[in-house]
Amino acid sequence: MADTQEIVSVLTESRVFPPPEQFSQRAHIRGMQDYQRLWDEAEKDPQKYWGERAREELFWKEPFQTVLDWKPPHARWFVEGKTNLTYNCLDRHLPRLKDKPAILFEGEPGDRRSITYGELSQQVNRLANGLKSLGVKKGDRVGIYLPMVPEAAVAMLACARLGAVHSVVFGGFSAEALQERMKDAGVKVLLTADGGWRKGAVVPLMKNVEAALTHATGIEKVVVLTRTGDGKLPAGPKFLAWDALVKGQSDTCEPEWVESEHPLFILYTSGSTGKPKGVLHSTAGYAMMASLTTRWVFDLREDDVYWCTADVGWVTGHSYVVYGPLMNGVTTVLYEGAPTQPGPDRFWAIIERYKVSILYTAPTAIRAFMRLGDGPVKQHDLSSLRLLGSVGEPINPEAWMWYRDVIGGGRCPVVDTWWQTETGAIMISPLPGATPTKPGSATFPLPGIHAEILDRDGKRVPRGQGGLLFVTKPWPSMLRTVYGDPERYVKTYFSELPGMYFTGDGARTDADGYVWLMGRVDDVVNVAGHRLGTAEVESALVAHAKVAEAAVVGRPDDLKGTALVAFVTLKHGNAPSDALKKELAAHVAKEIGAIARPDEIRFAEGLPKTRSGKIMRRLLRDVAAGNHSTQDTTTLEDLNVLAALRQNDE
Ligand code: WTA
Repeated sequence: MADTQEIVSVLTESRVFPPPEQFSQRAHIRGMQDYQRLWDEAEKDPQKYWGERAREELFWKEPFQTVLDWKPPHARWFVEGKTNLTYNCLDRHLPRLKDKPAILFEGEPGDRRSITYGELSQQVNRLANGLKSLGVKKGDRVGIYLPMVPEAAVAMLACARLGAVHSVVFGGFSAEALQERMKDAGVKVLLTADGGWRKGAVVPLMKNVEAALTHATGIEKVVVLTRTGDGKLPAGPKFLAWDALVKGQSDTCEPEWVESEHPLFILYTSGSTGKPKGVLHSTAGYAMMASLTTRWVFDLREDDVYWCTADVGWVTGHSYVVYGPLMNGVTTVLYEGAPTQPGPDRFWAIIERYKVSILYTAPTAIRAFMRLGDGPVKQHDLSSLRLLGSVGEPINPEAWMWYRDVIGGGRCPVVDTWWQTETGAIMISPLPGATPTKPGSATFPLPGIHAEILDRDGKRVPRGQGGLLFVTKPWPSMLRTVYGDPERYVKTYFSELPGMYFTGDGARTDADGYVWLMGRVDDVVNVAGHRLGTAEVESALVAHAKVAEAAVVGRPDDLKGTALVAFVTLKHGNAPSDALKKELAAHVAKEIGAIARPDEIRFAEGLPKTRSGKIMRRLLRDVAAGNHSTQDTTTLEDLNVLAALRQNDE
C-alpha cells in the first residue's frame, strides 16, 4: 500500500453551490439543519435510527427485534425479521402502480419496450416458476450473463423471489473470467443470451458461455434468451431457450420469505491481490439502504424518470438501476448499448425522448462527452433534467462544472456519490436539497455513516491532510463476507485497523470538513470507471508463453481517469516488437475482458526491485506517468539503472 504522504492534494477548489432554493423547498431533506438533525438522531441512538429506517423502508412479513448484532467484524442486521426483496420491488406497489412503466428500455439498434409494474411482476413470476421447474431453490446460486436488457432485471428479481442467490457477470467479461466466477460461486443455473449489441456489433455471449463450459463450472443448465438472433441454441440437454422455459408458466409465484441475513447476491470485484473476490450481500440491510439512499440522494419523487447508465454487471447497476428505483416505485430507464452509438448525441436523445429527470453516470463518460463539445448536447431538449449524479471515480472539477452547466443547464444540483461494491449503497454524497456542493467533492457522509479519514495508527488526520478512508462503525448494507473465503474478508477489510472497515481509498477533508476522495491507495485502479486489480492483469500477462514477469501500474489519464501501463520482461529467446505488444494486449482481453486491455505495454530488461525483491511500483508509476509519449518503448528499457538510483527512497 502507498504511503499516506503520497496522497498530496493539488485541489484548491473554492466554488460553492448551495442547493437551488426551488429544489430545496420541495426536497425530502431540506437544508443542513435537516441533515444535522438526522445525524444527531443516528449518533444518539444508532439502533433506534436504523431500526426506524428499516421499518419505514421495507415490508416485513415478520418483524425483527434485534437491530444489530455486532461481533466485529461480523454484523447481523434486523436479525429475526423476514422479508422478500421482489415483494418490496413489485407486489407492494401493484395496487397503485400496476399500469405505471417500471422499465423504459431502449436497445442499441433502436428497439424500444415499456414494461409496467404489472407486466414486470408477471415476467418475474413466470421466470421464477421456470427456475423452480429446473430445481432452483432457496440458497442456490444462479449466474446471470446478459446484456443490458429488461430480462437482466427480471432475472435478478426472479432469483430474489425464490431466495436464490444471483451472481451477475458483466457481459464484457471474457469466457475465462466467466468460468472462474461461476465455478467459485458454485452456480447451478446460468441465465444468458445469444448476444447483445454494443457499438453496432454483437457481443458473443453464448460463444463465451460455450467456451467457459469446456472447463469445469458445475453449471447444470443454461437458459438462453434470444436477443440478437444470430446464434442457434447449442445442442444437448444442458441448454434450453428462455422462451420455452417461461412459456406456460403461471404468472403468480409465492415469494419465499427469507431471513434478513439470507444472502441476496454475490458480485465479483477486483482486489489488490489474487483473483477477484465474491462480495456477498445479504437481503434486508442491503435492500433498506438501496431504497433509502436512492430516495435521499436523488431526492426521488414518484413522477421521476430516473436513468442510471451503469450496467447491471456492476454494483451500481444492482443498487441504482434495479433495486433502489423499483423499491421506490419510479420509472427506470435501461439502455443497452454504447453512449455514442450511432451518433455522439445518443444519451441526450434518450433523455429528451423519455423526459429523464435524474441522470446518474460516471466521470469517464462525462469527460468523453466533454471532448465531443457542446454541439451534440445542444441538439436536444434536456429541460426535463432536475438532478445529476456521478459515481465510480473522483470527478475532476472541470468535468463537474461542464456536467452542471452544459448538461444540467446550470439549474440541476450535482451529487458526487462515493461508495463501493462492498458498501452496497452510497455512503458519502451531497443531499441535493441540503448540501452546498463543491466541484469535485463528495461532501459529507450520509447520516449514520461513520466514514473517517485516519492514519495508520487509527488517529484522525488533521483537516487538509491526506489519510486513509475507513468506515469505523457497521452499516446495514455492508458486505457480509467474501464468498467461500471468510479469512480474506477479515484480512482485506478489517486488518488495517482491527474492527474498522478499510476502504482502500485515500481521502482528505478541507477546511470546511468536506471530503475529497483521492483515489485508491492499494493496487486497485479505476479504469474508465471500472475497477481492476493490477495483480489480475499481471497474472493474465505472465500466463502468456512469452512473458517472464509483468508489473502493471496506473497512469493518470485525462479521459479514463487511470490508464493501464504494463511493464513486461520476456522469456529468453523472445524479442520485443509491436506485434508482440498487440498479441499481449489481445491476450489480456481474452483472459479478463476488453476493459482490462493495457493502454500501453513496455518491454524491460528486468523489473526494478528493492533489495528484498519487491517490485518498485512507485518508481514504475513515475516512469509510466512521465515520458510515455516520447520514448520509443518497443525496445528494452533498462529500469534497473533507475532502480539503483531510487533504491534508498522507495
Ligand atoms: C471509486 C462503484 C471517488 C473508489 C460504486 C472506490 C469513487 C471504488 C467514487 C469502488 C467517487 C467510487 N469519488 N472515487 N464518487 N465512487 N469511487 O466497487 O476508489 O466498482 O473504492 O463501486 O471506486 O468501485 P466499485
